[in-house]
Amino acid sequence: MKRLLLLLTIAFGALFFSSFLKTKPINKERLGEMLFFDSILSSDYSVSCASCHKPAFAFADTVAFSKGVGGRLAARNTPTVMNVAARDAFFWDGRAVTLEEQALFPIANVNEMNLPIPEAVKRLNAHNTYRQLFYKVFRQYPTAKNLGQALAAYQMTLETADSPNDRWLNDEPNGMNEQQVRGRELFRVKAKCFECHFSPDFTVDDFRNIGLFNGKNYNDSGRYYATHQAADIGKFKVPGLRNVAITAPYMHDGSMKTLREVIDYYNEPNAIVPDAIGRDTVLLQPLHLSEAEKQDLEAFLHALTDDRFTQKK
Ligand code: HEC
Ligand code: HEC
Repeated sequence: MKRLLLLLTIAFGALFFSSFLKTKPINKERLGEMLFFDSILSSDYSVSCASCHKPAFAFADTVAFSKGVGGRLAARNTPTVMNVAARDAFFWDGRAVTLEEQALFPIANVNEMNLPIPEAVKRLNAHNTYRQLFYKVFRQYPTAKNLGQALAAYQMTLETADSPNDRWLNDEPNGMNEQQVRGRELFRVKAKCFECHFSPDFTVDDFRNIGLFNGKNYNDSGRYYATHQAADIGKFKVPGLRNVAITAPYMHDGSMKTLREVIDYYNEPNAIVPDAIGRDTVLLQPLHLSEAEKQDLEAFLHALTDDRFTQKK
């Protein structure tokens, strides 16, 4: 009798769950989320957006160059896709100007998902569930355009605004400690970081040359790829710094393994890349930071991590 009851409970539970799934409201964001985590968008069904943009690391990766289809390496370091809603250019060289447009590049990129866009659209149309879901959301079957729209809509939900620095700014409890407040002041004035990492997400939304181009071992010309203007050689998108403590390694080439390495670099760029071409004038003089100041600055960068990554649930 007891066993029968148990079986009945399980059966009804399953029935309830499946009908719940069917009626759960679908929208652009949820459809985009499904696609972001689905390897259907890669040629051999082995790679999804989330293979490189890993949720646990603020949607960045932990290696210098992520692996795409067939173990091929991406050409640059994988940036976070959190806090992208307010950006006006994407990729380290800014070659995409909207998230909708950006989303199609990694699918077609041979080192990443290696699936021509017409092929991707065909696959989604041949997939019963996706075909129906696209129709529900867009009143249209899958196209390149609505595929980009769905992925963009999901990524725009990945905003973070609950860090010790945010609380400190709002005079709320559990803000930054004294060391982090000292670090913030250094970030703002002596270390000149604010010149480029400014605004709520710590970026001026522009392209700058910090000295990681010398035409030899540092040979990615960055923004130049998108504009073909000589003045843009060696410029890269100024990345936002929210959650930066969990997105190592750093820079467009993943060449710096820790925040301390980044700080040592800015302290005296010339000591690390002496033959840089076109380094920004803001970075011409060494900063002369003391050991204690370097530690304070690093502590401040840790205060930009959202609670969802630091609080154990
Ligand atoms: C194989 C790893 C890999 C996969 C898979 C991948 N990406 Fe990326 N993503 C990267 C790399 C590397 C960059 C930087 C490339 C560059 O700047 O040239 C990047 C850049 C981005 C950016 C720009 C962020 C910024 O701030 O400029 C967005 C947005 C993005 N990817 C979204 C996606 C979406 C959506 C998918 C799935 C359709 C996806 N990525 C799949 C590695 C990957
Ligand atoms: C002249 C503008 C400028 C100044 C000043 C500046 N940055 Fe940057 N920052 C950039 C650019 C551009 C990049 C990307 C460079 C690249 O990848 O080649 C970057 C990258 C970074 C990164 C790596 C982020 C990632 O996701 O890979 C960190 C961390 C960082 N900066 C912190 C700082 C700190 C701390 C200071 C002050 C000591 C500072 N920056 C000063 C422009 C600047």
